[in-house]
Amino acid sequence: MYAAVVRSFDHAPRYESFDDPIAKGENEIVVDVLAAGLHPRVRAGASGSHYTSTQELPLIPGVDGVGRLPDGKLVYFVAPDTALGTMAEQAVIDYRQSVPLPDGVDPVMVAAAMNPAMSSWLALRKRITFEAGKRVLVLGATGSAGQMAIQIAKRLGASQVIAAGRDADLLNTLSNLGADSVVSMAGDPEEMATQVGEAAADVDVVIDYVWGQPAELIMPALLMRRSERDRAIDWIHIGSMAGTTIALRSELLRAANFRILGSGQGSISTADIVAELPALVAELAAGRLTVNAKAVPLSAVEATWNVPAPRSQRIVFTPTAAVTR
Ligand SMILES: NC(=O)c1ccc[n+]([C@@H]2O[C@H](COP(=O)([O-])OP(=O)(O)OC[C@H]3O[C@@H](n4cnc5c(N)ncnc54)[C@H](OP(=O)(O)O)[C@@H]3O)[C@@H](O)[C@H]2O)c1
Repeated sequence: MYAAVVRSFDHAPRYESFDDPIAKGENEIVVDVLAAGLHPRVRAGASGSHYTSTQELPLIPGVDGVGRLPDGKLVYFVAPDTALGTMAEQAVIDYRQSVPLPDGVDPVMVAAAMNPAMSSWLALRKRITFEAGKRVLVLGATGSAGQMAIQIAKRLGASQVIAAGRDADLLNTLSNLGADSVVSMAGDPEEMATQVGEAAADVDVVIDYVWGQPAELIMPALLMRRSERDRAIDWIHIGSMAGTTIALRSELLRAANFRILGSGQGSISTADIVAELPALVAELAAGRLTVNAKAVPLSAVEATWNVPAPRSQRIVFTPTAAVTR
């Protein structure tokens, strides 16, 4: 078969011939891969920098995808944690980590949307008790996952969603996805933090895709402006687009009812993740969530890998020719 193959962590994957995958375990099955998304998580895995990386080479990138079973049915699947990922004509999947797709659903749309959508879906449904009426701030709202977070928070009953991001043009489109207000994260960092803190002082949940300096500055700016500091606020760290570390002043943990937690692979069990897949697929199939996806043949993987896609657009590689949109 042909696959995207990483042989060095400092080089983009190359499209080359690779051994056909073989199903070994009793729950394993080989699927033809129709679509696999180029998520930030996939790039991190291919560069050896993701926290789950075993540094094993060669590797085939890709953490999820849409595949065709031998009986012709389509499934969305989360790949087993091995070096042989989904950016290949074929992949071995664990049948238990897949969900059937309804007829007519677009494989490229599903492959683009599931990873970014799962981030906030799981965070709000599995990491905290999220009740209708809560107010939410999304940091990094202009990205694919941030845009999904706006829509999902609203879908789960948020009374107010404040979208924060840097890209001014994109920020101005986010009301179309359900954002009640937007606030800029561009410009001078201290002024930015004050601005976000003022705009979101009384939120109940922060969905944070950026971490690093912006989060470090926004935390005190927001917490010290709360009208009721003993009202709980859950700060859910999901991504590290602006950095992996922050300095946290200890008094912030005393001065407000402030809870920091993370959401991702490891903090939620695989069984819990898999159990949430059908509900999210149903949301997508019903057209309730919008994603900006672009299909690219897998043969163009090397040329595409390091070219920045337009902001918020998710590249989806199509390893087999059968995908039409
Ligand atoms: N834990 C999980 O389950 C999980 C699941 C999916 C994704 N993630 C993580 O979530 C993050 C976002 O994923 P994505 O799919 O939305 O990526 P994406 O589409 O590439 O979007 C990236 C976002 O980060 C913002 N950003 C980048 N650098 C920034 C900085 N220095 N300061 C402020 N904002 C910055 C961008 O803002 P502008 O465009 O406005 O500049 C954009 O909103 C990634 O770290 C990803 O790995 C985690």
